[in-house]
Amino acid sequence: MRPTGAALTAGVIGQPIAHSLSPLMMSAWIEAAGINAVYTPYIATPHMFAPVVSALFRAGLKGLNVTLPHKTDALMIANRISDAADKIGAANLLTSVDGEIHADNTDAYGFISSLRKAGVEPAGRSVLVLGAGGASRAVTYGLLDAGASDVAIANRSLDKAREIARDLAPNSEILSWDDRSRLLGEVDIVVNATSLGLKGQIPLEMDWSQAGENLVAVDTVYTPLETRFLADARARGLLGIDGLGMLIEQGKPSFQAFFGCAAPEQADIRLLLVQALESHE
Ligand code: ATR
Repeated sequence: MRPTGAALTAGVIGQPIAHSLSPLMMSAWIEAAGINAVYTPYIATPHMFAPVVSALFRAGLKGLNVTLPHKTDALMIANRISDAADKIGAANLLTSVDGEIHADNTDAYGFISSLRKAGVEPAGRSVLVLGAGGASRAVTYGLLDAGASDVAIANRSLDKAREIARDLAPNSEILSWDDRSRLLGEVDIVVNATSLGLKGQIPLEMDWSQAGENLVAVDTVYTPLETRFLADARARGLLGIDGLGMLIEQGKPSFQAFFGCAAPEQADIRLLLVQALESHE
């Protein structure tokens, strides 16, 4: 249906924002659900983030997805912070609830849900996480929350890996970057949570000869959809899961929070997003 003056409103805020796939994804769900709602992109400098959010919420917006560079500032302006957002140290979802701002993080949920959609249950599994930035924090939190038996972290800067271990995974093994392939024969799942492999960045190379035959390789990068990391893993016959599922799955709890109904499963969002990514190439 076309939106009326009674439409529920929500959006995504970041800088830059033009590349965001969230408006396309949310609008397709709105259409498939047949609800009276609108989802809009907003741009804000770090300096303008708090006043813009405050004004939008006072004007009736139900909520906002938050993307770079505002994910930590989103915590600062919240009246309430979920456990996930608190532990991860970043929020990608702000909702306006009775005049208060609530902050949540759905990236960890999105990551775990995308594994499960691909038939991989993380509970009881041992996992190697590559990287120690924001994506790694969400992935590590999600894995331990979902019952992974242990998480090892490999990162170029060891201090950042130790920091994640201290905050989220005290018993985890820390590996130096040069040593990142050493556990491939022991773990069940390996996750690229670095920015390596992103379009314009150098690819992530692993020594796959060490990999066990049931190892699952998961990328958080989705531009391109098939990174070198995934292509190499698949060439060895391993299951590879790309980062687009995480993007889609992290959007579903936001949709529910904004509009009070579930994102329709029948909508072929993946195809829509793949086409959008291809048209940007
Ligand atoms: P995000 O929020 O997407 O995780 P980030 O916080 O900038 O982004 O983290 C980027 C990750 O990619 C980090 O783990 C980074 O390693 P450092 O912590 O040592 O910086 C990793 N990374 C980026 N470029 C890299 C490179 N050339 N080699 C190895 N790791 C790299």
